[in-house]
Amino acid sequence: MCGITAYVGNEPAANKILASLKKLEYRGYDSAGIAFFENEKIEIIKAVGTISELEKKMQQKRISSNLAIGHTRWATHGKASLENAHPHSSQDKKVCVIHNGIIENYQTIKNELKEFHFASQTDTEVFANYFSKNLNGGYLLEDVLRTLGKTITKMKGSFSFAIMIEGFEDKIFFIKEKSPLVLGVGNGFHMLSSDEMALDEKTEQVVYLSDGDYGFISKNSYCILSNGKIVKRRKLPFTAQVQSVHMGKFTSFMEKEIEEGSFACFNTMLTLLNQNLQKLEEAIKNSQKVFVVGCGTALHAGEVFKYVLEKECKTDVFLDYASEFRYKKPNIDKNSLCIFISQSGETADTLASASYAKGKGATLVAVTNVKTSRITKICNIVVLTRAGVEVSVASTKAYMAQLSALYFLITIFGKVKNEKISFSPTDILEIYNQKKEIIDAEKITLVANHIKNEKSLFFVGRGLDYFLAKEGALKLKEITYIHCEAFAGGEMKHGSLSLIDDESFVVCVLTQKNLLDKMMSNIIEMQSRGAKVILFSPFSELQNKVFCFVPLKKLKSHLMPFVAMRPLQMLALKCCEQKSLNPDMPRNLAKSVTVE
Ligand code: AGP
Ligand code: GLU
Repeated sequence: MCGITAYVGNEPAANKILASLKKLEYRGYDSAGIAFFENEKIEIIKAVGTISELEKKMQQKRISSNLAIGHTRWATHGKASLENAHPHSSQDKKVCVIHNGIIENYQTIKNELKEFHFASQTDTEVFANYFSKNLNGGYLLEDVLRTLGKTITKMKGSFSFAIMIEGFEDKIFFIKEKSPLVLGVGNGFHMLSSDEMALDEKTEQVVYLSDGDYGFISKNSYCILSNGKIVKRRKLPFTAQVQSVHMGKFTSFMEKEIEEGSFACFNTMLTLLNQNLQKLEEAIKNSQKVFVVGCGTALHAGEVFKYVLEKECKTDVFLDYASEFRYKKPNIDKNSLCIFISQSGETADTLASASYAKGKGATLVAVTNVKTSRITKICNIVVLTRAGVEVSVASTKAYMAQLSALYFLITIFGKVKNEKISFSPTDILEIYNQKKEIIDAEKITLVANHIKNEKSLFFVGRGLDYFLAKEGALKLKEITYIHCEAFAGGEMKHGSLSLIDDESFVVCVLTQKNLLDKMMSNIIEMQSRGAKVILFSPFSELQNKVFCFVPLKKLKSHLMPFVAMRPLQMLALKCCEQKSLNPDMPRNLAKSVTVE
């Protein structure tokens, strides 16, 4: 799920591309590259690693070109290496492309290109050579456009491309099919980008390209075709807030964002309380089935929602990973309410699931942190979380804001269905207003020191705590590379208990009074096999019963996630810091997963 960007205009292109790539880095940071014209030839600079590596290499060269394309990669085909980094050239070096997405039939096409030597393992290079072969030396604009049209029908999958062609020093060509691509219009320039917010701040209007579109941009004009015909697409005002985010006094964005988690909850709840909710209430009133869909942390927030809504409102919820949901083709109809949770609003599986549900006539609610994201354009109702920009790949404050928005939804369900809910929005506001949350940072640092060199860790909880254990495990594995697995307490003896020995550390979450005895039995079972239990709990009477006790503030049982999660996030961070790893950019991951 790479990020692509392209600029042609009055100003030198290199800095524009660099600035844009920095904003696209959330889409991948395996390697990066730029291509531009120099003496009518295409020049390429690439680097493995983050954009700053590319920047260092670019500083060694004076780039004066007013046209360039740039790429930040998250590898799907071929490892992260210099040869696989984009841009990729055709064998004759006359065509140079950057690509976001996957060409599913690339191998078949590659087999047809026997006469070509491939320098990389990417599907992208197959496109470059296929396109160049079909261009067949035709260097008239109509030849290029015809070939683009032909190529788009040949390729299967989801992809967007920006293309430079020798002989067209004033134009950047493009193709869009299922992967995002927006066209930015400014005074004396045009741009292409995977994300609106990575367009130059001087952009005045933006055109959302449709699937099947292809064409070109130049300094003063652009042209969009579909199925061989010139098409007009609506120009919308450029409204994306280009927010610059700084780390301030913190040593990582993750540290800063964990800190901001309480405000994210507070701000989300307060804003929702002041909104007109008629549409939402209507949708809940008319719903016979409720579906919740998301990925990773977003789905973990959804699990908490399902549990609490089912208990508080006697409303059954069907919940699934977006990647499963979209292929299971669940039984959705016009009486279904489908809630899609996504911090970025750009996750490919979540978007595809939303499109599926839309096709079935369901009412769609997006719970998202990004107002301009694609999910907001698909869904009927948007519930915005107010976490502010989340930079770190590990989602922390966005999860807290999602909880806040989802608990708010539960109170609306309660109102509509006439059910008495055990908490109110004010309870949640008060948690942060009155500093009801306690985080024993010293204790957490101590725990991190115990577990930082482990190869494998267990996270165990029951009921609501199981979902917190899952999120705690995801956070820790994501940034420390320690294998972490979460279990429902009662399930341990059905197999996984065999993994416990006197070397094992088990992180337990116990916040639910009604499950205290049951969970303690599970803890004792594990301790009897030698496990060292680290317990996150508000029940101080348990502190002498475990290896290490991390105290939590005691609240109404369904509100406990609001005080239990941030300490677990902090445990992951402290461990990561003690291992001297970068929490903000864990290996192999990207902030937003925009391919399947
Ligand atoms: C969280 O720490 C992860 N990086 C990941 O699970 C993330 O929550 C998931 O990819 C979903 O992203 P979204 O909320 O932007 O859709
Ligand atoms: N398939 C291309 C590659 O591996 C692009 C990847 C993507 O957009 O995620 O380089």
